[in-house]
Amino acid sequence: MMDLWEDDLLERYPENPKKSKEEFRNYDNPARDTVKEFYKMNHTYQTYDFVLEKEKEFLSLDRKKMGLWDAIEYLNTLVDDSDPDIDLDQTQHLLQTSEAIRADGHPDWFVLTGFLHDLGKVLCLFGEPQWAVVGDTFPVGCRFSDKIVYPDFFKANHDFSNEKYNTKLGVYEENCGLRNVHMSWGHDEYLYHVMKDYLPEEGLYIIRYHSFYAQHREHAYDHLMDEHDHAMFKWVDKFNPYDLYTKAPVKPNVAELKPYYEDLAAKYLPDTIRF
Ligand SMILES: [Fe+2]
Ligand SMILES: [Fe+2]
Repeated sequence: MMDLWEDDLLERYPENPKKSKEEFRNYDNPARDTVKEFYKMNHTYQTYDFVLEKEKEFLSLDRKKMGLWDAIEYLNTLVDDSDPDIDLDQTQHLLQTSEAIRADGHPDWFVLTGFLHDLGKVLCLFGEPQWAVVGDTFPVGCRFSDKIVYPDFFKANHDFSNEKYNTKLGVYEENCGLRNVHMSWGHDEYLYHVMKDYLPEEGLYIIRYHSFYAQHREHAYDHLMDEHDHAMFKWVDKFNPYDLYTKAPVKPNVAELKPYYEDLAAKYLPDTIRF
């Protein structure tokens, strides 16, 4: 499923819209049904109360202590059994993302952010269902935008008919800043909390909002953002192509790259990270 979700993103936001549209035109596509089924669950169960509950459950970060490389290896034990022909494992996706950032001469914290950005998927290994780990994220506690993928599925969400939560602003104030907004629960929000004391703010924005496509691609939630969010989202936008369009079939040489990333981790992260 995890890879299917990412393939679906490529279909929705192709690097070269003209060309890809033809390539992806496929009306009888079982992968698409799996993605649809996934979003049906996600949009039904990601309520305001659910998110608060998950925040309480996970943000004390007392599940596991791991060094960066242990965490990377732990994440790699995740096998995606719904997709038999995965060619890249989690570590390879992370390295392809970060190596592309490094090749473009960006600062080292940006490279490290690329290497870390999906580490929050360890939530799957803590027994969380995929619809509460991956997929596009969106604010809860206010009206679901119709710019979110498969917006019709929100009709089954309890908050959809709750007038506390179904107005444009819901429980929030206009331009209150995203730091005051609860996002649907998943690997982005979780990893933000794991890393929040260690990375520059730009990197933290990338981690926290990299799946918030309704905003960084569709600008559907400007009314909740403040000036500072907009300035920081320049980095989220800068990061997105590295996440989506660097899935080359050439596998990075993990052993060769490891020393570089160990040095980078030593510069920014503590020896053990609390998950
Ligand atoms: Fe991600
Ligand atoms: Fe990613």
